[in-house]
Amino acid sequence: MSGKAILLDGKSVAAKVRGEVAARAAELAARLGRPPGLAVVKVGEDPASAVYVRNKRKAAAEAGIVSFAHDLPATTSQADLLALIDRLNRDERVDGILVQLPLPSGLDASCVMDEIDPAKDVDGFHAINTGLLAQKRPALRPCTPLGVMRLAEEYGIALRGLKATVVGASNIVGRPMALELLLAASTVTICHTGTRDVRAEVERADLLVAAVGKPRFIPGDWIKPGAAVFDVGINRDGDSRLVGDVDFDRAVERAGWITPVPGGLGPMTIAMLLSNAVEAASRRMESRSR
Ligand code: GUN
Repeated sequence: MSGKAILLDGKSVAAKVRGEVAARAAELAARLGRPPGLAVVKVGEDPASAVYVRNKRKAAAEAGIVSFAHDLPATTSQADLLALIDRLNRDERVDGILVQLPLPSGLDASCVMDEIDPAKDVDGFHAINTGLLAQKRPALRPCTPLGVMRLAEEYGIALRGLKATVVGASNIVGRPMALELLLAASTVTICHTGTRDVRAEVERADLLVAAVGKPRFIPGDWIKPGAAVFDVGINRDGDSRLVGDVDFDRAVERAGWITPVPGGLGPMTIAMLLSNAVEAASRRMESRSR
């Protein structure tokens, strides 16, 4: 196949999701007598994290979700961070808790994630939520994989029976992504540092998710003609331009669909976070009235 792929416009689908979230947030506010609340915790001064956190807080406010900002110094102890989470777990105004990753060295992210009340775990990173997704009983689900699923749905990409390859096996993206695709009845392959021939796995993929974090790691000529390509990477190249994990300029000539970087999964991740925040608020309200 030749010609150009259809661009999967994360920016416009994210705007649609945010509109839906705003409507749900307003409805919940009326029923709860307060707006849904999202605590966004930042530890340390990682510049990329600072940008993401600012964008998340701004997007929450625009959707009618109150955000509670907690900015802690890089020297914060594990005990102090756990104590903050414990307070947020017990705060009735807080429906969702997000701790931006990566954490400064010396803090144990898994330990911190598992301190968050699973019902408030809007990142879906708690071992309970991961386990529920693995057992086909999804509750709160990781935002970037959810963004991929929503984009596929919006563009009518049918996932059942597709050969899907996920490159990258992180807890944040690769692993939950594979579980989402499995739930959607794709035949899933996960590539990681132990994979012998990444190229061969990419070449047979009808659907590719690249979540490696290395600029243009996947050459365009590896893409199967007509494939759906979801690029999770947000990397700075030599000229400090934002580029994905896939060589977009060549991949766009072969793929059937492709996400741009920026404007693909970045905005979708934030939109799905807000969706999870209203989902958490709604579930908490339902569980109280039962
Ligand atoms: N760091 C990179 N992506 C994410 C994310 O989705 N959530 C959090 N909390 N930290 C991240």
